[in-house]
Amino acid sequence: MTNRRDFLRTTTLAGGAVAMGLRPGSTAPAAPASGRLSHPPPRRRLRLLILGGTGFIGPHQVRYALDRGHEVTIFNRGRSAPGMFRGAEELIGDREAGALDELRGRSWDAVIDNSASRSDAPAWVRDSATLLKDQAEQYLFISTRSVFRDLSAVPATVDAPLLTRETTSGWSEGQPYPYGLAKALAEGEAQAAFGERTTIVRPGLIVGPGDETDRFTYWPVRIERGGEILAPGDPGNDRIQVIDVRDLCEWVIRLCEDRTYGTFMGVGPENGRSMAEFLYGIAGVTTAPLSWSWVPREFLAEHGFRPYGEMPVWRPPTPGFEGFARFDLSREVAAGLTFRSLADTTAATLEYHHARPAERRAQLRAGASAEAEAEVLRAWHRSRAS
Ligand SMILES: NC(=O)c1ccc[n+]([C@@H]2O[C@H](COP(=O)([O-])OP(=O)(O)OC[C@H]3O[C@@H](n4cnc5c(N)ncnc54)[C@H](OP(=O)(O)O)[C@@H]3O)[C@@H](O)[C@H]2O)c1
Repeated sequence: MTNRRDFLRTTTLAGGAVAMGLRPGSTAPAAPASGRLSHPPPRRRLRLLILGGTGFIGPHQVRYALDRGHEVTIFNRGRSAPGMFRGAEELIGDREAGALDELRGRSWDAVIDNSASRSDAPAWVRDSATLLKDQAEQYLFISTRSVFRDLSAVPATVDAPLLTRETTSGWSEGQPYPYGLAKALAEGEAQAAFGERTTIVRPGLIVGPGDETDRFTYWPVRIERGGEILAPGDPGNDRIQVIDVRDLCEWVIRLCEDRTYGTFMGVGPENGRSMAEFLYGIAGVTTAPLSWSWVPREFLAEHGFRPYGEMPVWRPPTPGFEGFARFDLSREVAAGLTFRSLADTTAATLEYHHARPAERRAQLRAGASAEAEAEVLRAWHRSRAS
């Protein structure tokens, strides 16, 4: 029997939605894509502590870990989704208030720290890593691609220079740490406590089911609507590296199973996709009639359309960002990072999006409005006609 996931994979290779026999104009996503790539069974059973087990990325880790037979404890304030998991232990505490008592006197094989992401991340990580350093073997910190000071080298690697207090422009001592600097300093705190037993993972945009930022979601939703689509920048040379939340979270669990230490990127695929591959790939899972208008970066800037703003996910290789979406991922792939197809990510994102309430579906949190997009397209056509 071929299940729908295998069907999606096969037919995507054979030509996307058309090969799937979907009616043109159908708005349903091409297929559900909640499946997993197969990986060997775990070598050992883990006792895992996940700081921030609810939210966006936590649940993907918890479910995968439980499915692989691990014992899971989550630690959070109990606000976002109390009692979310049967089968996982839930400890309540507040890192902001330094309320970590529930963690005392326990032991775990590995700690995954998802929740330290704001300007006080260094203090949160210092407190929890110091407390846990003799209670756990490994500390895995979820950092970010925003820790880099200079991504001009191509290919970029995880060893590119990091932001420091001295090199963060626009910030001065006494002000709250900006996101990238906070995460870079927090990495240092994890390493100071756990030394060589630390694992750092630096994701780029984390996308897919559960993502409430809508940055990637903008594109599948926009393309599914069809019509004339404003495609930003240079189709061949502007590149994209993001990560499907399931690829990231499942890999993170396997990094703990394998006691893999060190620092890694969490983006993909290798060398990125061109904007054309990215947008046409998403379109391969949708069926509405559409056409593309590629509009250069300079024209978009004149009309107030910014990378990562009105045009989310797109980050052209401007000076200092040439390697932003061109990471060499040999180290990550050797450590077991695998990538779902863009078709799978797109289908799962649309499935998630269509299950949201109508008001939420109508209010995407990222990207241009239909009116703003149409206005820029009209201006673009006028400029070409004159
Ligand atoms: N989204 C991206 O594209 C992206 C890219 C790169 C890196 N990252 C990193 O990915 C990580 C996870 O992001 P996310 O989107 O999953 O976060 P999220 O949805 O905001 O979830 C935060 C989690 O932390 C818990 N939490 C929040 N405040 C807490 C506190 N004071 N004490 C204890 N627990 C607390 C929350 O549960 P309660 O509310 O119940 O406390 C929840 O479980 C972050 O470190 C972020 O920097 C994200």
